[in-house]
Amino acid sequence: MLEEIKRTAAFIKEHTGDFAPEVGIVLGTGLGGFADGIETLYTLEYKNIPGFPVSTVEGHKGRLIFGRVAGRKVVAMQGRFHYYEGYTMQQVTFPIRVMQQLGIRYLFVSNASGGINTSFRVGDLMVITDHINLMPNPLIGRNIAELGPRFPDMHNCYDKELIAAATRIAEEEGIKLQYGVYVGGTGPTFETQAEYRYFKAIGGDAAGMSTVPEVIVARHMSIPVFGVSVITNCGLSDEVGDHEDVQRQGKKAGVKMEQLFKRMIENLK
Ligand code: HPA
Repeated sequence: MLEEIKRTAAFIKEHTGDFAPEVGIVLGTGLGGFADGIETLYTLEYKNIPGFPVSTVEGHKGRLIFGRVAGRKVVAMQGRFHYYEGYTMQQVTFPIRVMQQLGIRYLFVSNASGGINTSFRVGDLMVITDHINLMPNPLIGRNIAELGPRFPDMHNCYDKELIAAATRIAEEEGIKLQYGVYVGGTGPTFETQAEYRYFKAIGGDAAGMSTVPEVIVARHMSIPVFGVSVITNCGLSDEVGDHEDVQRQGKKAGVKMEQLFKRMIENLK
């Protein structure tokens, strides 16, 4: 596994030369627009990267974008791998391990999720303060000691300093933030009403089908993580959402998220 990670990183370096990204970014569903704001230097399609999972989904778009945001070197994943697509947890998290080999010092993750906290509204941004993992753990199996410990600590999983920076920047920019616990399930079904109530009862604020595996693997490697969920629907509401409105709200929220990520990257130490 480690050899494969290193082989893939070496392949990428053949294309990107000495460009060493400081920040890794995972762009979630509908949030790929952030990529337009990257001063792009190199783009690599996942299907052309040896070792990357091969997409089985028709028309699946996925690529790594290397470039600058606010002058800082970044690598962004436009499209991620989900467990519900049939990939193993090792495949889902492989790109994060490759990004670590490329030298990232921070990981920014984003996703679309369903609000469970009843004070959340469609289009809200939720800063992820913690998570509950309801998927298989990506670290099951032989531990790769070179990457991290057998029993990684999950305190401060979402970096408190980065959360504080987000709060400060959001205030300056007039962006409203929610804060909460992300519950990661396997999908692909959305939750039943009883499941949304269960997620709420166990302490969740938003439900999704991604992010948690990538964050666990990043924390195993001691990379500080910042995460944002865009609330695209409200799980406990009886209202049947107007699809167009949800999309519009999602897009608007995406713009806010892009602004927040950009300013945060600009302000990184
Ligand atoms: N549940 C799980 N994943 C999601 C949801 C949801 O309600 N909305 C967007 N992604």
